[in-house]
Amino acid sequence: MKTIIDNLNWRYATKKFDSSKKVSQENLETLLEVLRLTPSSYGLQPYKFLIIENPEVREKLKEKSWGQTQITDASHLIVLCSYIDVNETHIDAHITNTASTRGMEVENLKGYSDFMKNTISQLDTERKQIWNSKQAYIALGQLLHACATMKIDATPMEGYDPAGYDEVLGLKEKNLHASVVCPIGYRSEEDATQHFAKVRKSKEDLIEFI
Ligand SMILES: Cc1cc2nc3c(=O)[nH]c(=O)nc-3n(C[C@H](O)[C@H](O)[C@H](O)COP(=O)(O)O)c2cc1C
Repeated sequence: MKTIIDNLNWRYATKKFDSSKKVSQENLETLLEVLRLTPSSYGLQPYKFLIIENPEVREKLKEKSWGQTQITDASHLIVLCSYIDVNETHIDAHITNTASTRGMEVENLKGYSDFMKNTISQLDTERKQIWNSKQAYIALGQLLHACATMKIDATPMEGYDPAGYDEVLGLKEKNLHASVVCPIGYRSEEDATQHFAKVRKSKEDLIEFI
């Protein structure tokens, strides 16, 4: 248990990455599996994770991220996108996947399918987008914790222009919206932030037993 807390104290939102250090392919694969295994509402996974490798694209994205250097200097840049719209097609695909994974007949999942379709049909586009984005943030939390466990640095980032990301990455055509961004890699020794004490509310302020 102490290790969990030690790891969470070790991590911090890295401001300056060492651009010479790369996350190994093996570690990257583990983190991608962490993202894939993220739980989501109904298991619908209304998101897609873009791993931006192209340096030119990352340079353009830095311009859309108020010049924050983590975008270009980190080993890998992960853009956690959520679907703008989630509709019956997504539910049908999920049902087909569930049936084949669990060796079931699609017809036996009709009740579940209808229930999901009925629920999402009551959401307007804005509420769907908020709901989908929330799911992407669960993936972010899981990613941050896994990175801390693996002693890989990461920075959760909302400081960017989503419309600019949309423009650079052509997201709208893919029914995607950049919900949150997370560069991963290794901290630079020069990053003074790593030595700052963690600022958090006290347990008494934050947690209430009722
Ligand atoms: C959703 C989210 C968005 C954030 N956006 C940025 C950002 O754009 N740039 C940045 O340097 N830090 C960003 N941060 C880092 C927070 O400022 C940082 O996590 C918080 O101050 C707590 O510090 P710690 O993560 O170092 O423990 C963001 C954090 C979260 C969770």
